[in-house]
Amino acid sequence: MSVQKPARGTQDLIGETAQSFRWITDTAWKVAQRFGFIEISTPIFEFTEVFKRSLGDTTDIVSKEMYCFNDRNGESLTLRPEGTAGVVRAFLSNGLAQNLPLKLFYSGPMFRYERPQKGRYRQFHQLGVEVLGHDTPKLDVETICLAGQFLEELGLREQVQLELNTLGDQSSRQKYRSALQDYFSNYRSELSPESQERLQKNPLRILDSKSEGDQKIASDAPPLEQFLNDESKKFIDGVKQGLTDIDCKYVWNTHLVRGLDYYCHTVFEFTTNNLGAQNAVLAGGRYDQLVEMMGGKPTPGFGWAAGIERLSMLIGKREELQKKRPIALLPMSEAAHREASRILAELRQNGLVVETTYSGSNLGKLMKKANKWNASATVILGDDELDKKKVTVKGMDSGEQKEVDFSELSDYLLNNFAASTAK
Ligand code: HAM
Repeated sequence: MSVQKPARGTQDLIGETAQSFRWITDTAWKVAQRFGFIEISTPIFEFTEVFKRSLGDTTDIVSKEMYCFNDRNGESLTLRPEGTAGVVRAFLSNGLAQNLPLKLFYSGPMFRYERPQKGRYRQFHQLGVEVLGHDTPKLDVETICLAGQFLEELGLREQVQLELNTLGDQSSRQKYRSALQDYFSNYRSELSPESQERLQKNPLRILDSKSEGDQKIASDAPPLEQFLNDESKKFIDGVKQGLTDIDCKYVWNTHLVRGLDYYCHTVFEFTTNNLGAQNAVLAGGRYDQLVEMMGGKPTPGFGWAAGIERLSMLIGKREELQKKRPIALLPMSEAAHREASRILAELRQNGLVVETTYSGSNLGKLMKKANKWNASATVILGDDELDKKKVTVKGMDSGEQKEVDFSELSDYLLNNFAASTAK
């Protein structure tokens, strides 16, 4: 049997890394609750059609990155490449249209068959929010502000910048598509093979091509702003004004087009210079046609998702993510072991982090174990201590020793070794 990971771009998350993922998700959930969100968790696979319909047949994700398989019944299923489509599917299957507006928070693994590189995985983790039922720029501003607050609480606000663009409504975008096709057709032979392919299917994506040659050509392409109708203009002006009102700085980036077909109007990304090519840590936008495209009544939507791996890389090492220093409870005899199991339960019930030994009576060896655990204190329990109903507590940093009554042990440790708690 092979013990290799199942694919390049998958990871085993162990200890501090897993802890960091949990902390990031908990922080996001804490902030989202302040904005009135409820939690949703959908299956990690859906009928393939759910993604094809919503993300768009010509997108990279649908055309080459999905993990599709037939189940035993011959149904085509797909591991979710992102969260929005499944949330909208759940919105429709659970008849949630009665409860609008809805603010939903989710997190979990996503799957894309991409070329792995720094910050890009085949199984990765997102946390995200979706708001259904509001079509005002105020909502876009508030939900971007939620993202900003979340990044602030991770301590990353200084490392990221907000990039903003509009894709306009459907009719503006349609006009822009043809204008771009006309413009890029003049340079067809100079475009990268990928962009040549996109020329017919999805010319907007040429704007955010990573190829230098494409970028040069794209820099003179007409901007979408020239093709926005009044309604689309008014909408994005409302978003810009709202962001300015709350002093949220943004960079206007006309080449920000996003890789999914369901967007309209506002699109945005929080990007960083500290991760190399995979610079987007949190991204999203408005999707007012998506619910309808998936068979529901027209319902506006707005949301974003953050890549947890990328956030975790930016955060790096943090003290609170490290394993807690435990109290080491060291029983030295059979009788002491029985008393120790009672003490152990009491200390842990009171929130203390405690490790113990299960055998051995050589104090030197037991202390070695306590050192290996990086214990903050040792509690030594031998036959003498049993008789006196006292233990000897030794602070491992100070070296100080003190005899403490059984009945006072828990309070003594809580007062003197508060860092060895998990509450
Ligand atoms: P997305 O831009 O495809 O949008 O992904 C959002 C974030 O997920 C990215 O900015 C990045 O941080 C992370 N990410 C994406 N692919 C990978 C990967 N292969 N490895 C590591 N991290 C990755 C969406 O998924 C939309 N559903 C966001 C949204 C929600 N729009 C509206 N609502």
